[in-house]
Amino acid sequence: MDTPPPRRRREWTIAAGLILLALVPSIGGAFRIGEIASGATETDANARFMQMPLPVVLHIVGALTYAIVGAFQFLPDLRRNHNAWHRFAGRYLLVPAGFTVAATGLWMTASYDVPPTDTGAVAASRYVVGGLMLAFLVLGVAAVARRDYFAHGSWMIRAYALAMGAGTQVLTSGPALLIFGEPDAMMRLLQMDAGWIINALFAEWIIARRRAAARRPATIAV
Ligand code: HEM
Repeated sequence: MDTPPPRRRREWTIAAGLILLALVPSIGGAFRIGEIASGATETDANARFMQMPLPVVLHIVGALTYAIVGAFQFLPDLRRNHNAWHRFAGRYLLVPAGFTVAATGLWMTASYDVPPTDTGAVAASRYVVGGLMLAFLVLGVAAVARRDYFAHGSWMIRAYALAMGAGTQVLTSGPALLIFGEPDAMMRLLQMDAGWIINALFAEWIIARRRAAARRPATIAV
């Protein structure tokens, strides 16, 4: 059997890494949908989801679609060789799913009776992140409409990075939760914001690398 060239292998590793990052929130989401669908007993922890399931169900379905299908949009070879899929998935799956994730995130922030650690500053961060994600998606769509593909990629990387903050937050909060137990409001804010900030910085680093690569003159094989 032919082994794929190193570049293609590296690209698939990126997709696998992104899907792995989304794994824990995705599994959590699947459990939450199962709980809602089976009409589980209401507790303090799940009351908001059981009493008002629509935003969280839309959020989880949108997030699963966005995280998993989105992971493949960033693979240059796949984009080049299967451009029709890239365009179809972007237009009919990812843009609607991305808008759904951000809009329902904002909706839940505004309407759910969340634990005390998630009110105040954490809620403010969620408004900022949800608002920025919506703005980045709009800018990404506008860029592709005017055929500015570099800007399109940059805005979509930024939107995806913010959404995937949910995965990075598992890493920024999980170990502390295991060692110290439930966080207080300040710790919770640091853990949540760290997830979004790490991803935003990583996105800017990727975009800077793309910009540098785009400016580099093509090498001519001799
Ligand atoms: C692909 C990215 C995302 C994934 C996989 C994801 C996943 C989830 C899941 C599984 C839940 C249900 C939590 C539970 O059942 O306890 C949830 C809730 C929530 N998500 Fe997301 N999410 C993503 C992006 C976002 C974004 C960008 C925002 C921005 C505002 C956001 C805001 C919220 C809010 C406010 C809740 C309700 C929290 C609560 O009431 O405790 N999410 N998310």
